[in-house]
Amino acid sequence: MQLEASSVLPKPDIDSAAHSRHCADFIRARIRDSGGSISFAEYMQHALYAPGLGYYAAGARKFGPDGDFVTAPEVSSLFGSVVARQCAEVLAQVDGGSILEFGAGSGALAVDILAKLHALGALPECYQILEVSADLRERQDRRVRVEASKSVARIEWLDAIPERFSGVIIANEMLDALPVERFVRRETVRQQRVAASDNGFEFVEVDAPPLLVAAVEAIESDLGKRLPDGFASEVSLGASGWVSDVVAAMQDGIVFLFDYGVSRREYYAPDRIDGWLRCHYRHRAHNNPLVLPGIQDITAWVDFTAVAEAATGAGADIAGYVNQAQFLMSGGLAAELQGMTKLPPERQLELSGQVKKLTLPGEMGENFKCLGISRGTISPPSAFSFADRTHTL
Ligand SMILES: C[S@@+](CC[C@H](N)C(=O)[O-])C[C@H]1O[C@@H](n2cnc3c(N)ncnc32)[C@H](O)[C@@H]1O
Repeated sequence: MQLEASSVLPKPDIDSAAHSRHCADFIRARIRDSGGSISFAEYMQHALYAPGLGYYAAGARKFGPDGDFVTAPEVSSLFGSVVARQCAEVLAQVDGGSILEFGAGSGALAVDILAKLHALGALPECYQILEVSADLRERQDRRVRVEASKSVARIEWLDAIPERFSGVIIANEMLDALPVERFVRRETVRQQRVAASDNGFEFVEVDAPPLLVAAVEAIESDLGKRLPDGFASEVSLGASGWVSDVVAAMQDGIVFLFDYGVSRREYYAPDRIDGWLRCHYRHRAHNNPLVLPGIQDITAWVDFTAVAEAATGAGADIAGYVNQAQFLMSGGLAAELQGMTKLPPERQLELSGQVKKLTLPGEMGENFKCLGISRGTISPPSAFSFADRTHTL
């Protein structure tokens, strides 16, 4: 893969550099144990989630202006307020429904959703959070105790997907954080694995294992053509498994999946010859996942066709697929901004900046999508009432 120069990235401070060296040592040991290389999915798993060492498993700041990247709930509580309105529409149709949020990050979205549902008199039975990072779980706990004190009794953390669930499941920017496989199309399908090099890590290419070959061939069969020679990209085997598990649990309700992503046709378009990996370090985005292990975020854009296929394959329906701007505008953003003109000018300016960031096509409005997956007798909520693009999947 073409790696962008990492020399443009800010230099880590002494503690972060030491942390990254420990994480790299841990990964090098796994590579040695595996006979010289590991799959990229395993590398990503360790770099993000190795206990006490991975980016999400350790104490780095991550979110917000002082961290590495900003997500929609960190941009503005308007995002959570609109999501809450959509939750209320679904919960009104479900007897005793709850909300389950996956990968709750700093806890910002949970706080905003609960505040809005409290104001609407539409609190769920329970607000559950399933978070794989022990560090983030602690931060979420601390935050909701202070900022969602009125609803704290309804919040609980889960260790696994429940067997049965009714209500709303939400995941914002979680799918992009699931480990992906890397492949290259040549005469055969080849797998890009990670090996240790003199000064870090490097990609090495081997014949792909049967599961990866089957996944790439299924993509090609759906596209109706073989990918071009030398075409490299990612496949998220984990995302499909996760969606199937979530759908299996859902009895009656909707899953809202927010993330940056595109349809399969765009994902594997001929001009996208090097895939969709994106790394974030102190607000610099680049495409070299092999540097700064443990202190930079590694993500891959989402193939929403694959996610929708996994959902329908597990027995669910697609409630809608819209971009983030459309979700917010159809979902109640205007109602949230009512009365804005009565606010002090500085606050109006602040809010209009947040709205722009959340909705403009060059910001988060177009690349971010929401896929709604429904199960049971739920009518799709209003956020999916205009400009639905399910037919593009
Ligand atoms: C990019 S962050 C997004 C955080 C938050 N949702 C936001 O929008 O600010 C990804 C989050 O997903 C969590 N995560 C990753 N894999 C997960 C899984 N399989 N189950 C639950 N959480 C997961 C990470 O620990 C982290 O909290």
